[in-house]
Amino acid sequence: MENILMIDTIKWVDGSVDAPDAEAAEGAKVMILDQRLLPHVVSYVECTDYRQVVDCIKTLAIRGAPAIGIAAAMGIALAASAIEAADVKEFTAKLRPAIDALLGSRPTAVNIQWAAERIGRLIEDNKAKPISAIKGMIAKEGVVILNEDIEINKAIGRFGAEFIKDGDTVLTHCNAGALATGGYGTATAPIRTAVAQGKRVKVIADETRPVLQGARLTAWELMQDNIPVTLIPDNAAGELMRRGEIDLCIVGTDRTVRNGDVANKIGTYSVAVLAKEHGIPFYVAAPLSSIDFALSTGSQIPIEERSSDEVTNIFGRCEIAPKGVAVRNIAFDVTPAKYITLILTEKGAFKPEDIHTLAPKGQKGQKDKT
Ligand code: MRU
Repeated sequence: MENILMIDTIKWVDGSVDAPDAEAAEGAKVMILDQRLLPHVVSYVECTDYRQVVDCIKTLAIRGAPAIGIAAAMGIALAASAIEAADVKEFTAKLRPAIDALLGSRPTAVNIQWAAERIGRLIEDNKAKPISAIKGMIAKEGVVILNEDIEINKAIGRFGAEFIKDGDTVLTHCNAGALATGGYGTATAPIRTAVAQGKRVKVIADETRPVLQGARLTAWELMQDNIPVTLIPDNAAGELMRRGEIDLCIVGTDRTVRNGDVANKIGTYSVAVLAKEHGIPFYVAAPLSSIDFALSTGSQIPIEERSSDEVTNIFGRCEIAPKGVAVRNIAFDVTPAKYITLILTEKGAFKPEDIHTLAPKGQKGQKDKT
């Protein structure tokens, strides 16, 4: 039997999925599993307005690149359902503030931009239709993106499981699991598939300071699926590698660019350098929705810096640093392509230097333009 976390990361609730008109989208809700409370409390935030979705993304109630892309699509659908407009020009203009707010909510993951562009194309392709029909289509699109994401992750799982042998121990960083996606996960997909194939696989989860996605989320979801997981402080990874206790690393990505450089949760770069030093393969699971073919190198990726409170304070419960200390809270880092063995996508496994071959026809990187 396949192991799948049975809890939904995000849900669109109303009758609009099968109804082509706007009326059905009215009264719609986006239900977001509140990841700030996990692993101890399982509870949903009910969003009826796109501004609540923006807040959930900013405050990490929902996080993980594919999951925030889905949330953005559903947030746009909520905004669309509330718009009164005489024509598509007015409709698009009135939708703009919602799209801009969602785009500004988290800068590093490209998935929000990817989702917004996809909905933009949907509106453009259907601009001759009544506004009510367009609203219904947008509502439906969020659900389509969610369902597609799960299938994409399963494809990543099928390609990636081939690199996991029976008895292997896999190190992962942050949470690139079911909770970071529509379901199944990206970095966890090869692990889930390998386990379903009957391989014995153990996972080492970096706790992932400062927000502890590894401790709170990855450990929790793998335990839900009975996949053996051991939690370590981030700074223990090197020693475990030196002892020969890690066979491979698999991580997710927030934005991968044309030359194969990968932005992911802060600490990923250190793991990749350590893996190279110890001759351990380092894989990145990257759905196409997380690959930005418009950027040529990792130095062009916007890197989010978050509040110092996340470093000096444990979830508002305990101050752990002297008041007033200077802090850097860089949320993501860039791992240069040379440290990456393969990038696992829904189209197969690619060497980082070949990832640009997946770019849509005619699309060039920023440095290539002019
Ligand atoms: O700050 P977060 O928790 O949103 O960071 C998430 C990550 O870095 C994940 O590894 C990445 O988004 C890939 S999720 C499949």
